[in-house]
Amino acid sequence: MIKKCLFPAAGYGTRFLPATKAMPKEMLPIVNKPLIQYGVEEALEAGLEQIAIVTGRGKRALEDHFDISYELEEQIRDTDKEKYLVGIRRLIDQCTFSYTRQVEMKGLGHAILSGRPLIGDEPFAVVLADDLCLNLEGDGVLTQMVKLYKQFRCSIVAIEEVPASETSRYGVIAGEMIREDIYRVHTMVEKPKPEDAPSNLAIIGRYILTPDIFDLIKETPPGKGGEIQITDALMRQAQEGCVLAYKFKGRRFDCGSAEGFIDATNFCYEHLYKTGQAY
Ligand code: UTP
Repeated sequence: MIKKCLFPAAGYGTRFLPATKAMPKEMLPIVNKPLIQYGVEEALEAGLEQIAIVTGRGKRALEDHFDISYELEEQIRDTDKEKYLVGIRRLIDQCTFSYTRQVEMKGLGHAILSGRPLIGDEPFAVVLADDLCLNLEGDGVLTQMVKLYKQFRCSIVAIEEVPASETSRYGVIAGEMIREDIYRVHTMVEKPKPEDAPSNLAIIGRYILTPDIFDLIKETPPGKGGEIQITDALMRQAQEGCVLAYKFKGRRFDCGSAEGFIDATNFCYEHLYKTGQAY
């Protein structure tokens, strides 16, 4: 079964400059917890204990976060502040973390291909940590997708309906509805203008990928914006085999944008922090 989760985290995060000049975007906190920690918690809940992170220059804080800080921990030992570290210690104890660097930032598809040595020849999940996904009513989004994978055994992308005016920010799919919340993908377009979009079903930052995707990415030429797009490789996978799109249950916040970041902060403060569930 799926054990590995890949976090492409090498992007420049230009929309959040200057905060991201010397700090990885994935370390931006939503209230008291960095984005990437929410993502790893979601992966662990889905049973994915092997965490693989694609980093880049200036991203060393990510590695330090998932490691012990002896001096700090000694300082707060036996004080009531120890509770703040319970959550991160659990991740460090229960997960393994491996890292590789993307040397040139040539796009999400290229970042995923850079993670190949950490993944090998098995199906895996991908989390874009700046899309924060929360489902307070039940299974996390990755748990929902892993369950679906057990049934269908093919690549799955998480989708959400977006206003037509926003399609140019996403990969957009069209396909045949095979269940109220599942489509078999026929078409995928990266960042289409509203008039060119095949639907308003946008791909968000959660994927389950079968390992044949790596060879498809390798053969994928640079697409939109001169970047190697995962959408283009997935489109070929959909044509040659099967890719499903899944309308997940829960909420997604685009924390790569200021508006989504603020919405996520307010939501987490209200529903997690104030209720004592945020460590
Ligand atoms: P984004 O386009 O949202 O991230 O990529 P970005 O490039 O960091 O942000 P902006 O647009 O400049 O503000 C989606 C995900 O893919 C990763 C990013 O880290 C992010 O998690 N990514 C993107 C890479 O790892 N490498 C790349 O070359 C591009």
